[in-house]
Amino acid sequence: MTTRRLVLTRSAALVGAASSALLLPTIARAQSNKVRVGLMLPYTGTFAQLGVAIENGVRMAIDEKGGKLGGREIEWFKVDDESEPSKGVENASKLVQRDKVDVLIGTVHSGVQMGIQKVARESGVLSLIPNAGVHAATRALCAPNVFRTSFTNSQPTLALGKTMVDKGHKKAVWITWKYAAGEEAFEGFRDSYTKAGGTIVKELGLPFPNVEFQALLTEIASLKPDAVACFFAGGGAAKFIKDYAAAGLKGRIPLYGSGFLTEGVLAAAGPAAEGIVTTMHYSDSLDTPRNRQFRLAYAKAFRLQPDVYAVQGYDTGQLLALGAAAVNGDLNNKQALYKAMESATIDSPRGKWTMSKSHNPIQDIYLRQVVNGENKVIGVAAKALADSGVGCKMT
Ligand code: PHB
Repeated sequence: MTTRRLVLTRSAALVGAASSALLLPTIARAQSNKVRVGLMLPYTGTFAQLGVAIENGVRMAIDEKGGKLGGREIEWFKVDDESEPSKGVENASKLVQRDKVDVLIGTVHSGVQMGIQKVARESGVLSLIPNAGVHAATRALCAPNVFRTSFTNSQPTLALGKTMVDKGHKKAVWITWKYAAGEEAFEGFRDSYTKAGGTIVKELGLPFPNVEFQALLTEIASLKPDAVACFFAGGGAAKFIKDYAAAGLKGRIPLYGSGFLTEGVLAAAGPAAEGIVTTMHYSDSLDTPRNRQFRLAYAKAFRLQPDVYAVQGYDTGQLLALGAAAVNGDLNNKQALYKAMESATIDSPRGKWTMSKSHNPIQDIYLRQVVNGENKVIGVAAKALADSGVGCKMT
């Protein structure tokens, strides 16, 4: 009902501009016929490459289904969110209020996601999260219209601590950007590492998106831990890996991380990345027909190698296409739409996954190591890992 009212309002404005009442039915029909898809992603800054990979993935999945959603053509709307939390609400509102999108796909940065979450809860717009892992989105602030296709920030690191202790690293330093993603990744690391018997000797941090790592690396050298664990991503991750090696720490203090550290940055980081061990819900080298076929098709379409962000975008496109098909393109049939999305099994390049009750993937977490410039799978660190979803009440 809301959509219909909004369409008519907008049409009325256009009609006024064209000063012909006869245009009304045509315009109203044309507009309501297309599904309006909003992309709110970072296209500038340290996460720019992540935004592009996600958009590519979304488009690829929908193209594979004939380029339509539930039989309807698509009109795309894009906003560069710059990974800037202070503009989160404003940018999400541009898509929802101004562009009247039927679905908002976004974003990468956890702080910006909180702005989207606010707008999604207030407007009821279908919100698909293709990356940002902020816990609240699928815990205390979960909502029937919000679905995440990626992870919660502590999911990958919950599988990291035991691996490190098993390798004999009993004392570790943690280092990250100080914002929700880094702090919540730390929670997963802390819980798993201390439970396995490890001791965290120091937590180090710097504000996002700073990359002045030198003083912190000097501190790590003097602390002499058995190992270092971290959360960094995008351009900042490539610089951290290079600076870690340049500071003489590579080969002396093993570097671990949630897998974002080595996603999409291996070419940029070069030999400095060799040997890094990470945990993550995807790996380039997953030797399955599904992953091989996906990687080939993506490389052909975009002349780029896909990474976890491309996979998450792809799965977002798959989820949306599946939901739209279940309601024959009538995205206002919310009950049926949400039900289809809640009960979906996504045939992902990462392996098949399903939605938890709080709308977050239940998925395997792989143990990976960088070997010859590739994230090689060296084991499964956790099978069918679900986030706790603590505090989530779907209303
Ligand atoms: C986040 O801010 O939630 C975030 C950003 C980049 C990542 C992972 C998580 O690679």
